[in-house]
Amino acid sequence: MRISFLGHACFHVKSTQGEFLFDPFLSGNPMATVKPEDVTADAILVTHGHSDHLGDAVAISKRLRIPIVATFELALYCGKQGARPHAMHIGGDHNFPFGWVKLTPAWHGSSVEENGKTICTGLACGFLVRSEDKVIYFAGDTGLFGDMQLLGDMYDIDVAILPIGGNFVMGPEDAVRAAKMLRPKMVIPMHYDTFDLIKQDPKEFAQRLEALRIDCRILKPGESVEI
Ligand code: NI
Ligand code: MN
Repeated sequence: MRISFLGHACFHVKSTQGEFLFDPFLSGNPMATVKPEDVTADAILVTHGHSDHLGDAVAISKRLRIPIVATFELALYCGKQGARPHAMHIGGDHNFPFGWVKLTPAWHGSSVEENGKTICTGLACGFLVRSEDKVIYFAGDTGLFGDMQLLGDMYDIDVAILPIGGNFVMGPEDAVRAAKMLRPKMVIPMHYDTFDLIKQDPKEFAQRLEALRIDCRILKPGESVEI
């Protein structure tokens, strides 16, 4: 399986079962290394409605005729924009051709800005995906929460993709704590350095994880890791 970082919170995953995108914020993303017109996928998993996550999801869904997997309220919104929605909700799971998907809680908001108005799009979520017998936990935008311990108990997580940028989401200290509870084989940090407000030092974060014997891979936008 190949996990590629496309900048901010956008990842492309390709396994023998298929390929999918997380949170495809590419247009207007100063860190993005690919254009939304150039990505391929069988599905798009979107954690919440904020523009740095929903991003180009609707346009990509329309172009490739692929589903946007999201919480019910956000899926409904995407459907009204002409995308193909697959509505789910927290705690629910579903087998897709590319893998098994379960929605996890995330402590965060979810809304879309449209014509100067804020439209609430329900709850934010995270994703557990099992594809090719590998388990990925994509936390989405979230603060630290104790039920990450439960996720660590229930699933043998191969890769945890965790936000470390602070201000809107966990900072590095809380993300280290999250990793302790999740006990993944590898952590990939995300959601930092895109804007001044979320500047962080991922190397220091990685050192703290390595002291706990947790492998940390810092990916620059455009870089991939094979697991
Ligand atoms: Ni957000
Ligand atoms: Mn965000």
